[in-house]
Amino acid sequence: MTVWRAPGRINLVGEHTDYNDGFVLPFALEVGCTAAVAPGPAGSDGWSVRSAQQPEPVVVRRSGLAAAPDVPEWSRYVLGALWLLTDRGVEVPALDLEVDSDVPSGAGLSSSAALVCSVARAVDDHLGLDLDDAALFALTRDVENDAVGAPTGGMDQLVSLRGRAGHALFCDMRSHETRAVPLDLAGSGLAVLVADTRAPHQHSDGEYGNRRSGCEEAARRLGVPALRDVAAADLDHALARLDDDELRRYVRHVVTEDDRVLSVVRLLDEGRLPEIGPLLTASHVSMRDDFRITVPEVDTAVNALHGAGALGARMTGGGFGGCVIGLVPESAVEPAGEAVRAAFADAGFGEPSLFTATPAAGAH
Ligand code: ADP
Ligand code: GAL
Repeated sequence: MTVWRAPGRINLVGEHTDYNDGFVLPFALEVGCTAAVAPGPAGSDGWSVRSAQQPEPVVVRRSGLAAAPDVPEWSRYVLGALWLLTDRGVEVPALDLEVDSDVPSGAGLSSSAALVCSVARAVDDHLGLDLDDAALFALTRDVENDAVGAPTGGMDQLVSLRGRAGHALFCDMRSHETRAVPLDLAGSGLAVLVADTRAPHQHSDGEYGNRRSGCEEAARRLGVPALRDVAAADLDHALARLDDDELRRYVRHVVTEDDRVLSVVRLLDEGRLPEIGPLLTASHVSMRDDFRITVPEVDTAVNALHGAGALGARMTGGGFGGCVIGLVPESAVEPAGEAVRAAFADAGFGEPSLFTATPAAGAH
């Protein structure tokens, strides 16, 4: 049996920049998904998938993606790797796969990437394929895009595979080059407090796709391969060339957000962690006012964190619900959590879940 574990993630800054070929700065979490792969029982010729978080196992015949049977969506995150490897000419034998995850599902902490990456790593190892970093990343991204059909941008899989303890992962989402950037929370007296708003995700799939196609349309009208290619210094000029207000706001978000990632990386490299706070907050304002992907629960949590002494706070992840992060002095962790709870109670929202996050290792 071969066992691998891959983590969920928090994104420190760089939202909706990944599919614009831009920059992101996520880090891997302690919580993750464990995948175990074993040969199928003697005489079996199929793939069997079981999840500790799902009542029914799924058993299918071996095939490529085009001939894949209709199966519950969760199992496509697992079987997708087998279908795509088959399409790429790998003879995948009968296998039993079991997964078990402690990443809350649908909270914006990338339980799906943890699932896909743990399975891909375990299968690669079990079959002795020896895929290199680039091939593993491409496989996991393609599972989510092609086998599941979610038009996501790859950040989650990249950090789940390559994250490093004590570091955030600076990713260039065009070249897929990554660099670990020191994020020494313990030594700084600061903490990253996470508030899972548990806001119901409404229309998140459709809205995510709309934002992505809007950004691609803006790049086309500006005559650049991707919004990554609009330099911050040229932003006003680019905005003046667009007559669609919605697209103008998308461009402003993406171009300024790429710039914020670069500024945060510079500050972390120089050991100036407390100074990233205002950039995190500016990222939130840009997501709220320009990209328009926040919801009242998320904005309430950000305001409460600020009121309780956070140096900066922002929504993290795809938006329309999910989690908020605050950079808070260690001494303010408890009161800041209480402030979020109280604000949610006042507003009549459900109970949020609060925890601190430290950068952990990628797949291992
Ligand atoms: P997030 O990745 O932010 O948690 P998504 O909606 O992208 O949210 O992914 C959640 C989906 O991933 C679940 O609905 C389920 O299909 C799948 N998933 C994640 N973890 C597991 C697991 N342990 N077992 C089965 N399916 C899982
Ligand atoms: C996530 C998606 C990522 C990224 C992020 C927004 O949900 O999986 O690829 O686009 O949203 O930054």
